[in-house]
Amino acid sequence: MPSPADQPANQSAYQSAKPSVLAMLVMVALMFAAPFLHLQYLYLSHHWRLAPTGGYGAQAMVVSAHRLASEVGRDVLAQGGNAFDAAVAVNFALAVVYQQAGNIGGGGFMVYRLADGTTGTLDFRERAPFAATRDMYLDDKGEVIKGLSLKGHLAVGVPGSVAGMATLHERFGSKPWDTLIRPSVTLAAEGFILTEKAAREFNRFQRDFAAQNRFAPPVLKQGGWRQGERIKFPNLARTLETISQQGRAGFYEGRVADLLVDEMVSGGGLITHQDLAAYTPVWRAPVRFNYRGHEIISMPPPSSGGVALAQLFKGAEAFDIASLGHNSAAHIHLMTELQRRVYADRATHLGDTDFVAVDIAGLTAPDYIAARNADISPTQKTPSEVVKPGYVAAMESAETTHFSIVDAAGNAVAITTTLNGMYGAKVVVRGAGFFLNNEMDDFAIKPGHANQFGLLGDSKNAIAPGKRMLSSMTPTIVTKDGKLRAVVGTPGGATIITSVFQTLSNMIDFNMSAAEAVHARKSHSQWQPDVVMLEKGSMSLANMRGLSARGHRLYPYPYFKWQLGRVEAILVHEDGTLEGAADASRGFDDWAAGY
Ligand code: DON
Repeated sequence: MPSPADQPANQSAYQSAKPSVLAMLVMVALMFAAPFLHLQYLYLSHHWRLAPTGGYGAQAMVVSAHRLASEVGRDVLAQGGNAFDAAVAVNFALAVVYQQAGNIGGGGFMVYRLADGTTGTLDFRERAPFAATRDMYLDDKGEVIKGLSLKGHLAVGVPGSVAGMATLHERFGSKPWDTLIRPSVTLAAEGFILTEKAAREFNRFQRDFAAQNRFAPPVLKQGGWRQGERIKFPNLARTLETISQQGRAGFYEGRVADLLVDEMVSGGGLITHQDLAAYTPVWRAPVRFNYRGHEIISMPPPSSGGVALAQLFKGAEAFDIASLGHNSAAHIHLMTELQRRVYADRATHLGDTDFVAVDIAGLTAPDYIAARNADISPTQKTPSEVVKPGYVAAMESAETTHFSIVDAAGNAVAITTTLNGMYGAKVVVRGAGFFLNNEMDDFAIKPGHANQFGLLGDSKNAIAPGKRMLSSMTPTIVTKDGKLRAVVGTPGGATIITSVFQTLSNMIDFNMSAAEAVHARKSHSQWQPDVVMLEKGSMSLANMRGLSARGHRLYPYPYFKWQLGRVEAILVHEDGTLEGAADASRGFDDWAAGY
């Protein structure tokens, strides 16, 4: 019997309201009629009931994208490890059991808060190889060569994850490094049972795995994978074993580094031994700001997340959000107007602060925010010049992963990590068994050219050797009255920032539990394309009409949640109880495990 702390936000809970035959017929009829009646979202809203499920742990909690990874972390905590020990263990476990985003070939960000109130962040984002050039994805005529920054060896940034884990462990770890990686070595060597979702996702990319690799990686399987099958990764097990014995050198030097560089040479990639040896994570001061009696602590550049979140909340504070009613037309209109302005700033002003100047203080100054939002009308959208359609069509499958941890002492860790796209560049390092990222696409590969998330960028986010590409990843920690209140983050590309914004606003403005805040339907807008994306079931028809009447173009976004934003949150209740909410709403494998 799993303990209550082992319960995920379970899929079955969402299906508790099974539609009757008649309701299904009506639903099918509505599906056909929907495009003509502008009912795209309505027909789902009553059949996918939200359930306030999640894990409850008295002392410590891990919420991640996979049950096996959450349990590995929970065991580390239960054996006296701290949140940082658990983070290392979870990160490596996700690199085995959740290879679409969990990684050693990618990078990410950590925001932490120690029990004594000290806060900080660690940037282990990928960097452009030294041989990278500003126009490396453009042809002779200066046009973008389609797909070059997304698939294959040239799309790969210098990985930061292993150095990140080693660095955070050196500073904060309490358990021996090798013991934290051991469970992942075992998972890779002995294999693990595929969930339905994991099998389906391996199957979706079989053609890419075959096209991008000159050998047959273990994920490739004739006839495809089925739920319940065991999958093993012997080369990955060996690589993890080497890392467990040699630490950072086990990845950036020696056999694994040789294999990675060989892979680059054979596939036309740029990463060299010099790139690997030079990779260093960076401790950075967090972005910190207040919102209605809470302090929010988030990630500074090279992520845009913290600055954007500060702009959003500082803007939101001028309005009585709660009085608008959750997901009412007035509510979504206001959130949309705030978000459009913030994403326009993101496109122009943000980049890697090790290379370009970013005026964080100016962008988050109350006067600036007030002036920027002064023309927000409650009844009409502020006009935009250009509306670019085709957002979804332009998008490749993407995947990132976030995990939140709180230990028994009250230390909190929020880590978001990614390969960027699902399985990154789809390239597996031959002999070493891990996927490489396609993070180079997060640069503005050409001014004004939208990346796979439709995000625009300019010179501040142009490619330069050794530079980090701008991110939206927003690992975030919230305190109230000096006490830990929440640990939050999500995958979702451009929707990461708005998902974190709305989840926290749900907790603070609408007093929702973690499970409610995570599962509440979200909307998204990012200035360009000039549309409001609405998650299925997020609004009633009347509210949608209200939003349209304010001048917004509503956009069907069927994959909003189960492909993208999936918040993993821990909320500390007034009595100190930890509530872990893993977003499992569409058959995800996400899991909250506490003790
Ligand atoms: O750093 C970023 O913002 C992106 N590379 C994140 C990618 C992502 O979230 C994909 N996930 N669903």
